[in-house]
Amino acid sequence: MPQILELIQDDHDLIRSLFDELESNPETRDVRCITLRRELPGHMYAEEATLYARLRDVVPEEIQRSLEEHDEVRKRLIRFEKIPLRDDAWMPALHELRGDVEAHFASEEGGVFARAERHLSRSTLFELSEAFQQEKEAAAQITIA
Ligand SMILES: [Fe+2]
Ligand SMILES: [Fe+2]
Repeated sequence: MPQILELIQDDHDLIRSLFDELESNPETRDVRCITLRRELPGHMYAEEATLYARLRDVVPEEIQRSLEEHDEVRKRLIRFEKIPLRDDAWMPALHELRGDVEAHFASEEGGVFARAERHLSRSTLFELSEAFQQEKEAAAQITIA
């Protein structure tokens, strides 16, 4: 798997493990929520600025669908964050958010990755990995500010 796709896969794995922890460990929920708030939007923003931007003209319908999924996840995250940690609605809302995120990750890992490997050169994928890191760092600065 070429470089940027490895970085994206690593993020997906990290976010999945955050959800595991959020579901299973009440003690660390407040901290993990902060990490999720940084990692999930930063990941989507960096994808849009790099991989999606390169693939948009090549496979427009697939990228349009992915962008719509990002919007759904963002809206779901905003709704989730309005619910207090101790509220009965918190866990169902976490499951709904995770459901949307997992479905989106599956469509990337099962479809977008293959498109990227087919349509972009190895050197482009390598260049994009650096840009992906930079965009994530930039997004993290905005989140902190
Ligand atoms: Fe995505
Ligand atoms: Fe992703």
